[in-house]
Amino acid sequence: MSAPVVELRDAAKTYPGPPPVTVLHPTTLSIDAGEQVAVVGPSGSGKSTLLAILGTLDDPTEGSVLVDGHRLAELRERDRSALRAGRIGFVFQQFHLLPTLSAVENVATGLLYSGVRHAARRRRSADALAAVGLARRLDHRPGELSGGEQQRVAIARALVREPGILFADEPTGALDTATGEGVVGLLAGIADRGTAVVVVTHDEQVAAGFSRRIRLRDGVATEQHSAHDLAEKEPIR
Ligand SMILES: Nc1ncnc2c1ncn2[C@@H]1O[C@H](COP(=O)(O)OP(=O)(O)OP(=O)(O)O)[C@@H](O)[C@H]1O
Ligand SMILES: [Mg+2]
Repeated sequence: MSAPVVELRDAAKTYPGPPPVTVLHPTTLSIDAGEQVAVVGPSGSGKSTLLAILGTLDDPTEGSVLVDGHRLAELRERDRSALRAGRIGFVFQQFHLLPTLSAVENVATGLLYSGVRHAARRRRSADALAAVGLARRLDHRPGELSGGEQQRVAIARALVREPGILFADEPTGALDTATGEGVVGLLAGIADRGTAVVVVTHDEQVAAGFSRRIRLRDGVATEQHSAHDLAEKEPIR
């Protein structure tokens, strides 16, 4: 059994209001190295909220988040930032690439402030682009790439740090179906190499490609594992 990369222990999120709104009810779950997880559920069910809490972009209002076994709330801000930078990668629906930089320069921004020297940054960025199938597009700018290629650059930028876990919130939302499938296949392949991947999607077809599914409804999470009967749902808590 591998150790969890990220864990939630009774983590919940309530906005104060008035009236107060609980958008994530107390949730306990852990994500292990190399797991492939899809987060599904209707609009407004709390998918992005759950992802932001798992990815330490947002804090729960109750309960705790642990990364590599460290309780985040107990860390100093500096240690928290270092853990986040070293272990967690993010990919968003909009790619957020810098339009004036080439693909390889965009990926290299993922290594700024990491202590990696310029020449090594370029080499590692080129390697990351090769890993997403863009070895022949290093010097193209985002405007010269297709949507799917731009999303792959964004994935390479997240991967170049070699995170323990990669979060993607609707990464295929801005892509057509076939291109989106390619991107999801790529993400699943990344998990095979040991980086856990957690993908939010509206798309049940996309979710079916993942070995573990977390389904949200009104802020309550339930689990499905592909090893089980697909109709069977286990409440997380
Ligand atoms: N700052 C806030 N104050 C109050 N409620 C909020 C706030 N931010 C989000 N919410 C509510 O939390 C709920 C969950 O939002 P969330 O963005 O996590 O949903 P989602 O499942 O990602 O939806 P979508 O599929 O549309 O992206 C929604 O009902 C939303 O209105
Ligand atoms: Mg969302």
